[in-house]
Amino acid sequence: MRTIEWRDGTVVTLDQTKLPHETVFLKLKSVLEVAEAIKTMKIRGAPLLGAAAAFALALVAYNSEAKEKRELINELVKAGEILKRTRPTAVNLFWAIDRILNSARSFSEEDQDMAVFVVEEAQKIADEDAAANRLIGKYGAELLHDGDVILTHCNAGALATVDYGTALGVIRAAWEQGKKIKVIATETRPKLQGARLTVYELKRDGIPVTLVTDNMVGYIMYKGLVNRVMVGADIIVRDAVINKIGTYTIAVLAKEHDVPFYVAAPKSTFDLAQVSANVVIEERRPEEVTYIGSERITLPGVNVLNPAFDITPLECVTAIICENGVLQRKDFVEFKANL
Ligand code: MRU
Repeated sequence: MRTIEWRDGTVVTLDQTKLPHETVFLKLKSVLEVAEAIKTMKIRGAPLLGAAAAFALALVAYNSEAKEKRELINELVKAGEILKRTRPTAVNLFWAIDRILNSARSFSEEDQDMAVFVVEEAQKIADEDAAANRLIGKYGAELLHDGDVILTHCNAGALATVDYGTALGVIRAAWEQGKKIKVIATETRPKLQGARLTVYELKRDGIPVTLVTDNMVGYIMYKGLVNRVMVGADIIVRDAVINKIGTYTIAVLAKEHDVPFYVAAPKSTFDLAQVSANVVIEERRPEEVTYIGSERITLPGVNVLNPAFDITPLECVTAIICENGVLQRKDFVEFKANL
């Protein structure tokens, strides 16, 4: 099954907060239910957020009693506003909402039923993501070779996308080609997407994985225990890649130790009209830091900083892999100019 699917007027997806111990499927029936699932990170990962937002708008259209196009557009705009308030950083969410709204606005009433049209557009967004990840896997796998040990951070796998994954899609594709590779996964405090989700995905596929805590990366690089880094992105702007908190630390270490640092992301994650200074970095609840699971690990009332993402300047990035191919840093300048 894909990570998210449209099934007879419901959105079916996994509750990622329950993994890896329990497999719980959610059947979401309204935009509010999808928004809540996004806020609480039952649904997470940039491309998946885009697909979820698109399907949430499909739910609005599917259940709407609007008689006219204008009425339905108003409902979609309101729902889009609710969804845009869930998480601020991953651009795929905003991209998917705007794409659905723009195509709904250009819909001609003679063509077909508008609800059907919106559902189909959401399905297209999901299908395109799955296809993009296969291409990212194909192009990215050329960068990986027998004996490589690849460090990845957070979860940029099938669970973070509609299917297959971006960074893990590349690793998966190389593994499927028979390349003898190994992965080091960082646990990714505070939400532990690496320990919970990346390890789960790789183990399920039989790909060798070793789990480390985030603060072990310096030691690992110093000792030469890793020779590639492969991560995803929440938004790629003109000057930087924004991804899970801790990515920048890994990128600086990789640069210092001459380890290639690759970013794998579909074009829906690019916003090249934007610069990093204008990107809103999500700040999450202090309890994510002061607790591990249900156990409080520090004194009550301590000041806490909990940004969910950080900013990696392009100077630290060796190449970006998207569905068009591999963009080396110098090609990226040209790619930007042509967009
Ligand atoms: O807070 P999350 O779990 O939504 O953050 C996810 C990441 O940072 C991923 O690396 C990114 O979204 C790319 S997923 C293909």
